[in-house]
Amino acid sequence: MASERLHLILLVIFNHLISLLSQQEEAGFVYNGFGQAETDFHLDGAAKILFPDGLLQLTNASSQQMGHAFFKKPFKFDSFDRKLSFSTHFVCALVPKPGADGGHGIAFVVSSSIDFTQADPTQYLGVFNISTNGSPSSQLLAIELDTVESAEFDDIDKNHVGIDINSLNSVESASASYFSDTKGKNQSIKLLSGDPLQVWVDYEGTLLNVTVAPLSIQKPNHPLLSRSINLTEIFLDRTLFFGFSASTGSLVSYQYILGWSFSRNRMLLQRLDFSKLPQIPHPRAKKKQTSPLLIALLVLIALIMLAVLGGVYLYRRKKYAEVREAWEKEYGPHRFSYKSLYKATKGFDKDGRLGKGGFGEVYRGNLPRVGDIAVKRVCHDAKQGMKQFVAEVVTMGSLKHRNLVPLLGYCRRKGELLLVYEYMCNGSLDQYLFHRKNPALSWPQRLVILKDIASALSYLHTGANQVVLHRDIKASNVMLDSNFNGRLGDFGMARFEDYGDSLPATAAVGTMGYMAPELTTMKTCTRTDVYAFGAFMLEVSCGRRPLDPKISAEKRHLIKWVCDCWRRDSLVDAIDRRLGGKYSAEEAEIVLKLGLLCTNMVAESRPTMEQVVQYIYWNLPLPNFSPESPGIGVSAPSTLAPSTSPPSRNSIFVTHTITYRDGR
Ligand SMILES: *[C@@H]1O[C@H](CO)[C@@H](O)[C@H](O)[C@H]1NC(C)=O
Ligand SMILES: *[C@@H]1O[C@H](CO)[C@@H](O)[C@H](O)[C@H]1NC(C)=O
Ligand SMILES: *[C@@H]1O[C@H](CO)[C@@H](O)[C@H](O)[C@H]1NC(C)=O
Ligand SMILES: *[C@@H]1O[C@H](CO)[C@@H](O)[C@H](O)[C@H]1NC(C)=O
Ligand SMILES: *[C@@H]1O[C@H](CO)[C@@H](O)[C@H](O)[C@H]1NC(C)=O
Ligand SMILES: *[C@@H]1O[C@H](CO)[C@@H](O)[C@H](O)[C@H]1NC(C)=O
Repeated sequence: MASERLHLILLVIFNHLISLLSQQEEAGFVYNGFGQAETDFHLDGAAKILFPDGLLQLTNASSQQMGHAFFKKPFKFDSFDRKLSFSTHFVCALVPKPGADGGHGIAFVVSSSIDFTQADPTQYLGVFNISTNGSPSSQLLAIELDTVESAEFDDIDKNHVGIDINSLNSVESASASYFSDTKGKNQSIKLLSGDPLQVWVDYEGTLLNVTVAPLSIQKPNHPLLSRSINLTEIFLDRTLFFGFSASTGSLVSYQYILGWSFSRNRMLLQRLDFSKLPQIPHPRAKKKQTSPLLIALLVLIALIMLAVLGGVYLYRRKKYAEVREAWEKEYGPHRFSYKSLYKATKGFDKDGRLGKGGFGEVYRGNLPRVGDIAVKRVCHDAKQGMKQFVAEVVTMGSLKHRNLVPLLGYCRRKGELLLVYEYMCNGSLDQYLFHRKNPALSWPQRLVILKDIASALSYLHTGANQVVLHRDIKASNVMLDSNFNGRLGDFGMARFEDYGDSLPATAAVGTMGYMAPELTTMKTCTRTDVYAFGAFMLEVSCGRRPLDPKISAEKRHLIKWVCDCWRRDSLVDAIDRRLGGKYSAEEAEIVLKLGLLCTNMVAESRPTMEQVVQYIYWNLPLPNFSPESPGIGVSAPSTLAPSTSPPSRNSIFVTHTITYRDGR
């Protein structure tokens, strides 16, 4: 009897244990992919498990579909204990069809039934139809991840999470986002990003929490949605099925569940192993047929751009165009590109203009690796003789003397020649002789400059491989370097006129007042340079130009006037008054006399530049001569007197510069 009772008790306990164990089994599960889950799940509609990964596809991107996946075994809460609670964590993905907005969304569903054959896709998410929506007999809780804004259900946007109880009008909803603990603020999430998304749904007591986050984020501390709901009032049958539903309409997307963990007890919820989750297939954008209109438009744009680029190219080519000929190759290093000079002078900017000379304008510039330069733009329309001229320019570039302005090179363009000189920072001598704004040069400074120019000229006449004539010595062609040393510039440039214009071969070149009288009939030679240097010496000593139409007739011709002073035995009267008497009378007399000697009417009576250097360095005494000596103190023929009419190109006496007018 007792054993029978014991047997019965044991049987009851055993049965109870069995039932407890089976209940325990249903208390929770975890699926990292659904490869092994086919038998545990009720699938219908478009839902299927994709092998080999075990990805649960609720819908593909066809329209008007719905798919359901429910855990087959129901949870009978009433039979186990009265407290209704559950916790779940799943990973899903909503992948848009390339180039299109997607719909309609995924819902995590708690339902008393798994028969959704009468439900509708699209905005009904595969769980309701028009008559069940809003009916308490539905006995349904859905957590919707909704990617379409349906105005009829008061959706807040097309990227929201909502809690639906027996109705698609959510009792609670919010735009998809999560609270970032590290950043301390809400971060929005795009549901339809195609990336895996974590969702947690927790129900305990009467509080339902919904939390979402990207895969890389740990479960945020703050839920997105938190709502007090008494589920025992909703699920009157006390039988609950858990699962997913998804739908498409005319808006479509691929909707997947990657993994799912579920437990009736939050503490016992098993972790998902992300490393075991299946991969999400990302549909590649199909090559869309580009419309012919678009192609035409693109071609048009390409053509316009090509035209613009071509225009720019042509413009630049014209802007920087140069004339280059084969014979110039040998002058390679002496040739500069127009572009580099254009850039060096900032496009020949007016602000950088140093002056306007007889040959053209001079601009200041700076070339990388070369330094400060002065660029002289010389107009020409020579077709002939250019080769010879450039050869001469290049030869002159090879002339090296401490008192010559270095000629660095040249560039040729149509109708224009550019000569590149080293930049002389203190400008030209005439600025100091004739412009009151500059301090007057002291006598020692003037003497140094005269000595400098004498040596430079002597070098040109004898020191170089060939005789180089300057042909245009005057104060404005003498530059001053940073130490106020004289530097002779523009040497040989007067030849340019020969090539540039159709002047007769015998044409005189130079500047009036500095031009030897024989130039009217003879060609230039070293003696004519000596004459000009003599005039220049007087100019520097006396601080006035050789010919000054503004001065009274008796003093107008400087040579004659200096000689007159000498005749009156007061030679130093001619010395520049700006010196204020601060000069050596002895030196001044020698310089003035040497000036007169050099400007002798008779070319043969003039000293050579070598001799001049000897005299001016006081190495040799001046020869004996007096104001009455032949040729001394004779001013240039009256035909050279300044004319008030504009200079005529046809006159053999008139040249490219008229110094007595403006000093240039
Ligand atoms: C979706 O699945 C259906 C049935 O399997 C198939 O006919 C359709 O072509 C699929 N659509 C896409 C976009 O893959
Ligand atoms: C809606 O679904 C219910 C069952 O779930 C069905 O009885 C009813 O006929 C359906 N209504 C419509 C309009 O489809
Ligand atoms: C729900 O969220 C609230 C507020 O963060 C929290 O106090 C509560 O413990 C959460 N409940 C569950 C079941 O997660
Ligand atoms: C973050 O979002 C939650 C839920 O929408 C909201 O209650 C909370 O105020 C937001 N917090 C901040 C800092 O915006
Ligand atoms: C939930 O509703 C049931 C049935 O109406 C009721 O018995 C229970 O006390 C409610 N629970 C809470 C926490 O209000
Ligand atoms: C001459 O040039 C030097 C060096 O550039 C400069 O310091 C000086 O001021 C200049 N003198 C005059 C008078 O311009």
